[in-house]
Amino acid sequence: MKSISPQEIASHNTKDDLWVVIHGKVYDLTEFLPNHPGGQKIILKYAGQDATDAFEPIHPPDIITRYLSPEVCMGKLDITDSAGVMVKKESEADKQVRLARENMPSLDEMYNAFDFESVAKTVLKPEAWAYYSSGSDDEISMRENHNAFHRIWLRPRVMINVKQLDLSTDMLGTKVSMPLYITGTALGKLGHKEGELVLTRAAGQKNIIQMIPTLASCSFDEIVDMAQPSQTQWLQLYVNSDRSITQKFVQHAEKRGIKGLFITVDAPQLGRREKDMRVKYSDKAPEEMNEDANRNEGAARYISTFIDPSLNWDDLDWLKGITKMPIMLKGIQTPEDAVLAAKHGCSGIVISNHGGRQLDFAPSAIELLPEIMDALRAEGLDKQFEVYIDGGIRRGSDIFKAIALGAKGVGIGRPALFAMSTYGDEGVKKLIQLFYDELVMCMRLMGAPTIKHITRDMVDIRNLKDHFVQSPLDYLGHHAYEQMLPRGRINKL
Ligand code: LAC
Repeated sequence: MKSISPQEIASHNTKDDLWVVIHGKVYDLTEFLPNHPGGQKIILKYAGQDATDAFEPIHPPDIITRYLSPEVCMGKLDITDSAGVMVKKESEADKQVRLARENMPSLDEMYNAFDFESVAKTVLKPEAWAYYSSGSDDEISMRENHNAFHRIWLRPRVMINVKQLDLSTDMLGTKVSMPLYITGTALGKLGHKEGELVLTRAAGQKNIIQMIPTLASCSFDEIVDMAQPSQTQWLQLYVNSDRSITQKFVQHAEKRGIKGLFITVDAPQLGRREKDMRVKYSDKAPEEMNEDANRNEGAARYISTFIDPSLNWDDLDWLKGITKMPIMLKGIQTPEDAVLAAKHGCSGIVISNHGGRQLDFAPSAIELLPEIMDALRAEGLDKQFEVYIDGGIRRGSDIFKAIALGAKGVGIGRPALFAMSTYGDEGVKKLIQLFYDELVMCMRLMGAPTIKHITRDMVDIRNLKDHFVQSPLDYLGHHAYEQMLPRGRINKL
């Protein structure tokens, strides 16, 4: 393959003659430009340059060979040329990230899940932080997810032998070390160069389950290959408009030993995450390139193209027909739908509002859990039907509360991403250990030596429905509206 110098690549930097470098190979993307699902602007930004860092987190590894003809590969980047530095020079944002990483506190200084989040905020690239941390609209549901746990109080029992504790339980038939799993979250490589593989290794070592996301940065097989032979993995599924793609994927997953299929049902369209949209909006292509009108509205908008909004209850028969894996619906948000899921023969549900990233003002999972359990019980549907929750879990006591209210286990999303993005494998293992230690403490002080001893009478949920107790600040409105000041005073916010 021909070696091409950085200077030559840099000279192909216009809309009508556009080369970029991805993973050391040089591609002529002039013809492809108008067809890029993520818009033209992002490609134009890297015209004549190395686009690997921007490309990698949001594209599956084999996408180039699938979508581009071999002729567009012009050769490989000549890295022996000393001017190679010109192709990939450190931007101001990259420099800030590098400095923040050099000054990170040590892992020993992480005492809880929030600590990882604070560090992640300083070391993640702006687009990664925006995508991971954002919720939809005013982010009311996102904040509510954790706040709702504050409205549940505990009723500790004393004088119980809690010398030996056992936190192990089973989830869809797998014995796990504690009632916690890592849920599926997209685009792992935005936070860490190995992406989801970090989560796979940590989950394996800590004996908890990892749910593999459809929209992972690593390929599905890479993630499965990374697992230990005895390690259980689940699959989160976005059903594609082309059902044959989904069928192939599901059957392949079953062959590869996946033990549970979690269909995401709360996202016929991805929510408006404005932080994410703003970051991409500021990612301007060079002026002279005559930007296309199609603005790239952040990672979330881009990946929406993979999701079929027509998915409905009738599709469950088709899904049951193509796999023997237990089918779970992820994103149930009412007792009515929980009952429907059970009646349609699902093996269980995840109560979730998608980390507050979908419908703003959807209630938190922990608030819905007791009413959903009551509804299932009333219809005799709670046996052989596993209920999980995710959203806002940041403490061992949050896990305790969920178990007390009837959940089989809880999923963590952002906490795992932030631990992965900051301290890699060690970070995720430490995070899981912190949850474990906090749950040990909580169970001991509550007088519950095993998971089965955690019962509903141990929590006081009388205030759970009282949203007004802690009404969240309307941040956007707060900043936009002018204060009412006395006459003659200039209003400067
Ligand atoms: C998200 C999707 C991809 O919330 O799950 O961004």
